[in-house]
Amino acid sequence: MSTAKQVSANKVTTRTLAQMKAENKKIAMLTAYDYSLARLLDQAGIDAILVGDSAANVMAGHPTTLPISLDQMIYHASSVTRAVKHALVVVDMPFGSYQGDPLEALRSAIRIMKETGADAVKMEGGAEAVESIRKIISAGIPVMGHLGLTPQSINQFGTYAVRATEQKEAAKLLGDARLLESTGCFSLVLEKIPAALAKETSRTLSIPVIGIGAGSDIDGQVLVLQDMLGITQGFSPRFLRRYLDLGEQIVHAVEHYIRDVKSSDFPDEKEQY
Ligand code: KIV
Repeated sequence: MSTAKQVSANKVTTRTLAQMKAENKKIAMLTAYDYSLARLLDQAGIDAILVGDSAANVMAGHPTTLPISLDQMIYHASSVTRAVKHALVVVDMPFGSYQGDPLEALRSAIRIMKETGADAVKMEGGAEAVESIRKIISAGIPVMGHLGLTPQSINQFGTYAVRATEQKEAAKLLGDARLLESTGCFSLVLEKIPAALAKETSRTLSIPVIGIGAGSDIDGQVLVLQDMLGITQGFSPRFLRRYLDLGEQIVHAVEHYIRDVKSSDFPDEKEQY
């Protein structure tokens, strides 16, 4: 009997995303960090799942993405890949796993690919990250770039406000996007930048450009799952559309359970042995 993971015939690959851009089909991407929710996203037919370092925020409650470690990212990513048969799984390289040295970056990316079975990695930064990105791509590992608001640089930015509103930063972003494409990135995420700049970037590049807070004239969208399901509290940026108020529903369900336990209503006769 084969022990190989059962992968669906229509598994999304980096080539599928390229094809989708060529055919003008929008790419839908969401984050996931655990088996149960990743399984539901895959069942729903999501094109791509990002195991984002936003796990540091939504799973661990850190105010920034900086504290999450490579081992923790590998734990989250391997939980996700165990669930996914269809979607492309991309894993964020965490802060400190690639910035210093291209060889260390390569070792980190190889650990992610070997220990999680993911399809690709994502890295923040343009020219400053390009040597590491080149090294990783040369080992046959697909890399998704990430420009605009790059949360691993929050201490340098000092704010989560919209990036590249000034001409100088916009020109750098466009130059970095071209550089990432020519270095071999298969795709690019643009976070929280003006829609017009995202549109220009997406039209300039032949690789798929996926936005979060970057408007609609772009090849795809990504959101943090807990944000769009209404689980995250106290976070409502303009770009976020909430598709559920799951946080409220969970609180109601738990209140109901507490009442039932306290009143001895749960379990009833049918719920016992
Ligand atoms: O970590 C993350 O969730 C991300 C998305 C916001 C793109 O990088």
